[in-house]
Amino acid sequence: MVASTKIHSLIAREILDSRGDPTIETMVVLESGYRGVASVPAGTSLGKYESVELRDGDEKRYGGMGVLKAVANVEGPIASKIRGMDATDQGAIDKALIDLDGSQDKHNLGSNSILSVSLAVAVASANASRVPLYRYINQLFRPFVETEIKRIPTPTFNIINGGKHGAGNLDFQEFHIIPASNKAFSEALHIGVSVYKSVMQILKYRNAVYSVGYEGGFAPNLFTNLDALEILREAIKASPYAFGVDVFFGLDLAASTFHQERGGYKIKDKPAALSSTDFTKYLVELHKQYRLLILEDPLDEDDWEHWVELSKEIGKDVLVVGDDLLATNPERLRRAIKEGACSAILAKPNQIGSLSEFFGVIAIAKQADIKTIVSHRSGETNDSFIADLAVGVQSDYVKFGAPARGERVAKYNRLLQIESELAASRVVSTTS
Ligand code: PGA
Ligand code: ZN
Repeated sequence: MVASTKIHSLIAREILDSRGDPTIETMVVLESGYRGVASVPAGTSLGKYESVELRDGDEKRYGGMGVLKAVANVEGPIASKIRGMDATDQGAIDKALIDLDGSQDKHNLGSNSILSVSLAVAVASANASRVPLYRYINQLFRPFVETEIKRIPTPTFNIINGGKHGAGNLDFQEFHIIPASNKAFSEALHIGVSVYKSVMQILKYRNAVYSVGYEGGFAPNLFTNLDALEILREAIKASPYAFGVDVFFGLDLAASTFHQERGGYKIKDKPAALSSTDFTKYLVELHKQYRLLILEDPLDEDDWEHWVELSKEIGKDVLVVGDDLLATNPERLRRAIKEGACSAILAKPNQIGSLSEFFGVIAIAKQADIKTIVSHRSGETNDSFIADLAVGVQSDYVKFGAPARGERVAKYNRLLQIESELAASRVVSTTS
């Protein structure tokens, strides 16, 4: 007899994320007894156009960041709506959740409560069918875009943290190194760790603070933002790897965080704020000087005109990535494609708020030849769902932070497991 995949019950609770802020964890129990657990992450440099996570707002508990209302929504109205539904029908469940919320941005039930259920349903269903989660996700994604699992996405490692993520004084949020995409994942991980350790030595030598920021990268005080890139360059030189061959640079400026409504772009490298046009010129020069492979959120999330101008200038040889610009939102992605505003999307499940809608966004990107980067948030849990997700949809890159700290390495370690499973299945399929 086939075990029932009907949903029996939902159990939700408030847990902590890596910043010490509350978030929600949900367990979906099927009638057969199979279950799935998922928790959701949260951002610090939140984009204006993201779906809305529900916070309690009670200043006496966790400074207003509690999620007891979201927990109650899962165990109350959401459970009543989806109890008895078939967990294998992800599309129908996500639609039921979206309809129940009834708003464009999920502010009624909260994107955190909806996403925790949407992901836990997929995990429960994968467990019930005894298929590894990444394969199950791939099966769900195939009707959107026919996709075969061939490789582990290339990791982009956030080695130095600034902006809202680090206690240091840098304006740019993230300074990345990216191993060449022809490297096996395990080798790419080794490159990431080698450079990470080498940066630690350099910061110690310079007597700079080498504490870490939210995503596990170092958060030093330096004179300019470009000093951080110089430190990365020095670290690569001290490693066995060659810049431009084995390893490349990437940046996430999170420019909306230092863009002033009337004043322009204010960074410590320049005495006065720069207009959009001047900041665009500055970015073109920055690219010439450092040969960036990835440049994320180089401009404010509403500065469409200059995104288009920048992409015209450098979009052919650098991935201009929309994070806050796109907010994993299909309408904003369609606009970006139409206008030529960027060449890659940073895709975060909690920006859109359900698994099926996330698939829809990835599908639009793939069909338009927009590169995809599946991403964590600065506030993470040890849930490694996004590692399976990235493999299942075959994103081009993953952005999971530094190769350090438990909540970041949970994802990298899961990719190592998947890498060996894929290798083993290749051996089986070529020998049988
Ligand atoms: P966030 O940062 O999770 O704080 O939004 C991540 C990013 O900007 O890519
Ligand atoms: Zn970003």
